[in-house]
Amino acid sequence: MSKDLKRWDQAKAEGRRLALLTAYDYPFARLAASAGLDGLLVGDSLGMAVAGERDTLGVTLEDIAYHTRLVARGAGDLLVMADLPFGTYEAGPAQAMASAATLLKAGADMVKFEGGAPMVETVGFLAARGVPVCAHIGLTPQHVRLLGGFRRQGRGEAAARRLAEDASALAAAGARLLLIEAIPAPLAAEITRAIPIPTIGIGAGGATDAQILVLHDLLGLGLDPAPSFVKRQLDGAALVRAAMERYAAEVRERQWPAMDP
Ligand code: KIV
Repeated sequence: MSKDLKRWDQAKAEGRRLALLTAYDYPFARLAASAGLDGLLVGDSLGMAVAGERDTLGVTLEDIAYHTRLVARGAGDLLVMADLPFGTYEAGPAQAMASAATLLKAGADMVKFEGGAPMVETVGFLAARGVPVCAHIGLTPQHVRLLGGFRRQGRGEAAARRLAEDASALAAAGARLLLIEAIPAPLAAEITRAIPIPTIGIGAGGATDAQILVLHDLLGLGLDPAPSFVKRQLDGAALVRAAMERYAAEVRERQWPAMDP
């Protein structure tokens, strides 16, 4: 899928589902491009998946800019989204614009940030200034301290209504994509039908226009156990560990490299 967001709108209109992954470096971005994925997210999940932190709050704008450069170099025609980290956009539209400019200069095609109604003005401000925005609602991991953990959202009538209203307001303000995380599948389906822009789901059932997973979860290199909605496609940890063990054994037993020059 191309970087042209009109093609994403077209895919929604035609009911063609899209597959995205997170990526944090050049080799995996190249692999994703050659595997024919539709888009990549340089997510602040890198704080947990790559840096081993307990949440995403410590990730900086410089971290995301650095990893965006690596990913953009390998992504070819894939759309590259980059996350605005915690503390780099919430103060207001001007702060968000400056942070978004840093990531676009690093090679991102669009920025993503978390939040519903309080972020509507910022979405409109950036959209009017030429910055494509993916809004992110539902479980918003940057709010983990307030939420009391990584918990499913949108349970109960009032919470569901609020999320549906947020989705419509963000789309009306100019968001081009909407990421919906960890909400009930019927609510994600309702939001997907109600708004004109493509929705990307994670832990939100099968009715969204696109799906995304954290790369390390897909490959079995992530948290153990992985979140319940993850379908692992590989036991990467076992494969990598076995390769390392074989290497160490061959070196110690003088099987490799050959002793003869
Ligand atoms: O940072 C991230 O990886 C995310 C996921 C929800 C896809 O935002």
